[in-house]
Amino acid sequence: MHYRYGVDLSVPNTTDLRIDRARLLRRLADLATIGAIDGTEGCARLALTDEDKAGRDLVVAAMHDLGLAVTVDGIGNVVGVLPGQTDGPPVMCGSHIDTVRTGGRYDGNLGVLAGLEIIEVIKAAGITPYRPLAVAFFTDEEGSRFAPDMLGSLVYVGGMTVEEALTIEAIDGAVLGDELTRIGYDGAAPLPAAAPYAFVELHIEQGPVLEVEATTIGAVTGVQGISWQEVTVTGQSNHAGTTPMHLRRDPGFVAAAAAAFARELALDLGPPQVATVGRVEFQPNLVNVVPARATFTVDLRNTDESTLQKAEQRFAEYLRATAEAEGCTVETRELARFEPVTFDSRVVDLVEHTATTLGHSVRRMPSGAGHDAQMLARICPTAMVFTPSQDGLSHNPGEYTTPDDLEAGANVLLQVVLQLASEEHTFDV
Ligand code: GLV
Ligand code: MN
Ligand code: MN
Repeated sequence: MHYRYGVDLSVPNTTDLRIDRARLLRRLADLATIGAIDGTEGCARLALTDEDKAGRDLVVAAMHDLGLAVTVDGIGNVVGVLPGQTDGPPVMCGSHIDTVRTGGRYDGNLGVLAGLEIIEVIKAAGITPYRPLAVAFFTDEEGSRFAPDMLGSLVYVGGMTVEEALTIEAIDGAVLGDELTRIGYDGAAPLPAAAPYAFVELHIEQGPVLEVEATTIGAVTGVQGISWQEVTVTGQSNHAGTTPMHLRRDPGFVAAAAAAFARELALDLGPPQVATVGRVEFQPNLVNVVPARATFTVDLRNTDESTLQKAEQRFAEYLRATAEAEGCTVETRELARFEPVTFDSRVVDLVEHTATTLGHSVRRMPSGAGHDAQMLARICPTAMVFTPSQDGLSHNPGEYTTPDDLEAGANVLLQVVLQLASEEHTFDV
């Protein structure tokens, strides 16, 4: 083999390789039939449900069809590897295929299926990359059934032991380890896993910035910090008609006031602070009963760690004072806490440069959503490629990215991966 500027010259024009758009769209459509939400384009494949299993089986079958060596680890992460000319750590791409209950067909799925697509293109062109290539999908990225989010990739990089992860209880009471065994994805590949050479995740933006700015590609510079907690407020259940307002100990009121405060807090701190109360449950949840208990979640995010901590402190203080004034008690449980992550500037530069070379408009930007890439960044040079989301919509069955943009993103992924996989030198991590 002879190389110039890291490109294998024995293979004609790898820079001219392009993905097959129709095949990528077909893969997305096929996976979207599993857990399809009637009357929409979206899917419900909560982690480790029967639907998740069926989706996994489809992707694993496709990996086998491509001749990849498939491994499953003890938290159910699946990795398919195409050998390179050399052994050693692979250039990895991928994402997740679990969805929220009201998910679209692109979130996560795009990164995994585009990974399969680029392998198919590379194989069909008769190319054996210098380094092995890997396509991965990680368990429970969404975290909506089992918290925290990015759980599979967190365990993959050694941020949580697999033993601890297997004991996590779902919102429906199921235990993660039991569900993993039930669907047959309790594999034996070792954890934490060996570090890849580099990781690149293609993903839809899930926000409005690229569309508003008429830009095709985001070169993602990092991911904002995430703080999730579950709050339980306990008071006194009583008759809604007979209990005077000044004698109530109403956890429903505390929850509602806290949700309103979370919004005020985010507005007061200003962008990029965001705050969401996404799940609220009252007990006994009846029209004429002052609730005995309110349980709700709070999601706070910021690219700046110190401001995120400020938001957490101010929210905690408000909650404590409001509950005390109402005669209620409060318990909080941390569901997820991840500091902001900065991606490897060399890989971000490569994404930006590749997008420009392919003729696409591109901007550097942080990610508002959590991603497996933020975990992989702990162990290898990592970056992400974003494509626009129509109307900035995601975690919604109406999530949509145009075929042109999907194709553009997948071609950027293809060329970035080819470039990384042709490198003879090693990154300094
Ligand atoms: C995961 O998708 C998150 O950002 O909530
Ligand atoms: Mn995602
Ligand atoms: Mn998501």
